[in-house]
This record gives sequence, C-alpha cells and structure tokens, in this order.
Amino acid sequence: MKPQLILIGAPGSGKGTQAKNLIDEMGYNHISTGDLLRAEIAKGSELGQKLKSILDAGNLVDDATVLELLNANCELEGKSYIFDGYPRNLEQAKALDEHVLKGANSMAIYFDIDLEILIERIVNRRTAPKSGEIYNLITRPPKVPGKCDVSGEDLVHRKDDNEDTVRNRMNIFKENVDPILEYYEGQGRLQRVNAASSAVEVFELIKKIIDNK
Ligand code: AP5
Ligand code: MG
Repeated sequence: MKPQLILIGAPGSGKGTQAKNLIDEMGYNHISTGDLLRAEIAKGSELGQKLKSILDAGNLVDDATVLELLNANCELEGKSYIFDGYPRNLEQAKALDEHVLKGANSMAIYFDIDLEILIERIVNRRTAPKSGEIYNLITRPPKVPGKCDVSGEDLVHRKDDNEDTVRNRMNIFKENVDPILEYYEGQGRLQRVNAASSAVEVFELIKKIIDNK
C-alpha cells in the first residue's frame, strides 16, 4: 500500500495543487482540514459561524475542534490518504500519530519555499470547490474567466486570500513549523521538495519520493 502522506507547507506553497495531482494520478484520498472547516462554515451551523471569524482572520482553529473534524472524515483502513494542512503545530503532529495514523506507514513532505514569493501566488488563486481544481490568474488561468474548465462552476476567491490575512497566516506558519519539522526529521520521516519549482516538477519530485519509499 502507498504510504500515508503528510503535506507540510506555508499558505500557497502548493499543498492543495499537489494533492489534486496525487488524487487524479495515484488514487490517493484527500483530507484538507481547511476544506473541512470551510464546508462546516458553508453549512451555516453555530460552530460554522464561530469558525468563520477565525478563518477570515487567518488564525488557527483550536486543536480539539480540528482533530474531531479530521477523525470524523477519515477512515484509514485499506486506504492511502494525503493529510493537507494538518498538522499545523507540534501537538497536532503528535495527535495525528496517536489518534489517526496509529503506526501506519507514513511520511511527511515539506514544501520548502521562500515565503515572500507566496503572496502573489495566493492573491491570484481562484478555486473550484466542487471539482477541486485550483487556478492561478497568472500561472494557470481558467479558459473562460471566472469558470472552472472541468465543471463550469463559478470560481471562488477565498475570503482569507487577501494580503493582510495572508501575512498573518504566514506569521503563524513561521512560529509553528520548526518543531513539526524537527519531530518528523528526528524520526527519519521527513522529505523536502523545492516548492519554488513548477507544479509539474514538484509533482515529479513527489512521485520519486513515493516510489523510493
Ligand atoms: P488551508 O485551506 O489549509 O490554507 P493554507 O494552509 O493557508 O494553504 P493554502 O490552501 O492557502 O495553500 P496551498 O499550499 O494549498 O496552495 P495551493 O496549492 O492552493 O487553511 C485555511 C485556514 O483554515 C487556516 O488559515 C486556519 O484558519 C484553518 N485551518 C486549517 N487547518 C487547520 C489546522 N490543522 N489547525 C487549525 N486551523 C486550521 O496553491 C496556491 C496558488 O499557487 C494557486 O493559485 C496555485 O495555482 C498556485 N501554485 C501552486 N503550485 C505552484 C507552483 N509550483 N508554481 C506556481 N504556482 C503554483
Ligand atoms: Mg490548500
């Protein structure tokens, strides 16, 4: 069975883009805590309303809420998953091992990239929630402006994809990432990819890592 993959990277580093490639070409299952949280917000529940203000500000949701959502949406038996956007701190890394992976064959991939170039990527991102396609007005524009090439649905500009919020998300990432990387590195479970390469090149690197595992 293919290893469980844990994608670690700054906002805009390409986690979602590569997750989509891995789903389409390698049959991976995808779990993005950001997507799960946005789905909860879209329901308009009481919890969703609380989450909305946290996501809109670019802050982290509390560990217990995210772990509960993760557990409710992930059935590991016989399946290979991509964990995209989880863990975001050392506590979450430990919780993932203890409550979800429970010794399953897994590895973490760090999307290594200079944070300054990410702002432009993020403010130009447009997403198609139903098809899961991720566009960029500069590097991967849709064929028809504002519409998904695959599903035809209207593209979404995420509320937290403005420059101020992105800077806060980046700062939170910087504060938390080193202990996560040390945790996986110390256990020999960490691989790094140069996430400044093109999306095609990054995907090739990830496939090589999986093949060599
Ligand atoms: P989440 O949705 O996970 O956002 P994020 O981590 O900030 O990451 P992004 O989705 O912004 O970036 P990405 O790496 O997926 O990049 P993408 O592939 O789209 O989380 C949102 C919020 O939810 C958080 O702020 C927090 O509030 C909350 N949350 C989520 N998980 C949580 C947790 N575990 N605990 C607590 N709170 C949590 O690419 C970006 C753009 O770049 C696209 O336009 C794409 O086309 C383009 N692009 C991608 N790759 C390349 C490339 N190689 N070259 C050029 N352009 C590229
Ligand atoms: Mg994403």
